[in-house]
Amino acid sequence: MRANPFACVFFGVWIAFHFGLNDAVIFKFTNFVCESYNKSWFVFQNCRLKALSRNKVLFNMKGTVLHPATNITLHIQVLKRANGYKPWLVDVHVDACRFLRKRSPPVVNLIYGLFKEFTNINHTCPFMGPQIVKDFYLKPELLRLPIPTGDYMLTMQWYFDKKIQFDTNVSFMFVEDLINRN
Ligand SMILES: *[C@@H]1O[C@H](CO)[C@@H](O)[C@H](O)[C@H]1NC(C)=O
Ligand SMILES: *[C@@H]1O[C@H](CO)[C@@H](O)[C@H](O)[C@H]1NC(C)=O
Ligand SMILES: *[C@@H]1O[C@H](CO)[C@@H](O)[C@H](O)[C@H]1NC(C)=O
Ligand SMILES: *[C@@H]1O[C@H](CO)[C@@H](O)[C@H](O)[C@H]1NC(C)=O
Repeated sequence: MRANPFACVFFGVWIAFHFGLNDAVIFKFTNFVCESYNKSWFVFQNCRLKALSRNKVLFNMKGTVLHPATNITLHIQVLKRANGYKPWLVDVHVDACRFLRKRSPPVVNLIYGLFKEFTNINHTCPFMGPQIVKDFYLKPELLRLPIPTGDYMLTMQWYFDKKIQFDTNVSFMFVEDLINRN
């Protein structure tokens, strides 16, 4: 039996419609906070969200590492809102220098995959000088993991030589299926 081209197109559209290759997914930043705890090692010049449209919010960040950082660890947590933010699945400590060489653990690689194209923070250690994130927005097609509709917070606490230097905490919204929602 030969495939009917009309059926193929119809099936393709149906697939696209059902699996989020359309605007039925909202995945956007709702808040971003950056705070340095040691301004003689890391300073933020900029940390700002800008709404381009209702569902597209850009994040821009500029920070400076004032002395070479060779020993960087990260505490990453994901929280989900339900009467305040509650811990949700992810709570990891990561050696950032090792991560950038090995691209593991996978959950961190997933987060990194969302933002690596928007930043110069895409090399191995050491880190020195300007650290830039430019016009970063969330692309649902890069989130290769089904997550439930909700409001989330991803907190990243950055340690140099095991001492806390700064936080970057981001809140975001994920809405899976607008059509069935209303
Ligand atoms: C703050 O940064 C300086 C480097 O400029 C470093 O020598 C010092 O240990 C850091 N202090 C803390 C508490 O992290
Ligand atoms: C890192 O990003 C810059 C642009 O910000 C790009 O020119 C460079 O090729 C990237 N490096 C790697 C290793 O991906
Ligand atoms: C970032 O989130 C952590 C909790 O994961 C919290 O302890 C810290 O105070 C937050 N930082 C800022 C600047 O809000
Ligand atoms: C990072 O710095 C801490 C504190 O100085 C030290 O205990 C640890 O061994 C260092 N880690 C590496 C990989 O150098």
